[in-house]
Amino acid sequence: MRADKGEPNAAGELLQLAGLAYYRASDLVERVLATAREQLDMDVAFVSEVTEGQIAFRSLEGDAGSFHFKEGVATPLATVFCRKVIEGRIPYVVPNVGEDEEVRELEMTRVSNIGSYVGVPLQFSDGRLFGTVCCMSHAPSLELRERDAGFMGVITRLIAEQIEREELEAKNRELKIKATGIGALLAALEARDGYTGEHSQAVVELSAAVARRLGVPEEEVDEIEQAALLHDVGKIGVPDSVLNKPGPLEKGEWELMRQHPIIGERIVAAIEGLAHLAPIKI
Ligand SMILES: [Fe+2]
Repeated sequence: MRADKGEPNAAGELLQLAGLAYYRASDLVERVLATAREQLDMDVAFVSEVTEGQIAFRSLEGDAGSFHFKEGVATPLATVFCRKVIEGRIPYVVPNVGEDEEVRELEMTRVSNIGSYVGVPLQFSDGRLFGTVCCMSHAPSLELRERDAGFMGVITRLIAEQIEREELEAKNRELKIKATGIGALLAALEARDGYTGEHSQAVVELSAAVARRLGVPEEEVDEIEQAALLHDVGKIGVPDSVLNKPGPLEKGEWELMRQHPIIGERIVAAIEGLAHLAPIKI
């Protein structure tokens, strides 16, 4: 239901939203969208994501079917209402699409039969632009005001925080997988060969120093360090009689020893969270 326009009802709605924090992340975004849609009395609400000149629906709430909107479907940015929001990073309120020169001729207006629109940019706390949060109706919504974009802005901040939290959790999970994978492999190797652990640590320091001197970005330096730590992990596949032989190696033994980078690449490529390190040559 549309709230009384004389009294912005955002505070009450937000209190209600605070109680929803225990819901699953995607549920939470959907419920926040539902609140925005009901508050503004619109037909559909969605979160869109922008990548390389395209825009895709991420979360849809309301009567998406009557607009022919589908989650995950990407559309060129030039053809959508959200273009102005994305390019200008400004809220955009269109109470009557038929009177707005920017959007009335768009194919989307005809295909989805759009009569009114309100959209705001979805930006993360570091300024990174994710996409938009929007509401649309088939009919004009003549009561829509700039102030409604302010309410949508609050809704959008909640959604941005949620998406950021999810991204951070996913990153932490990945780091944990990596740390576990690397730790297990190195422990196995050290159990076989006391020398390699110390040697690998020295290679980590050397590779990182060279990479930084070459101006490699910090995230890539992290990956180089991980690859350096693992560069000899294939020695796990070299027999003890060769790996720990006190004297010089025979020709056949050298051949076995020279297999270790190939074995290492295979091991690293097979582990989720580490596979991207396999092609790195140290
Ligand atoms: Fe080595």
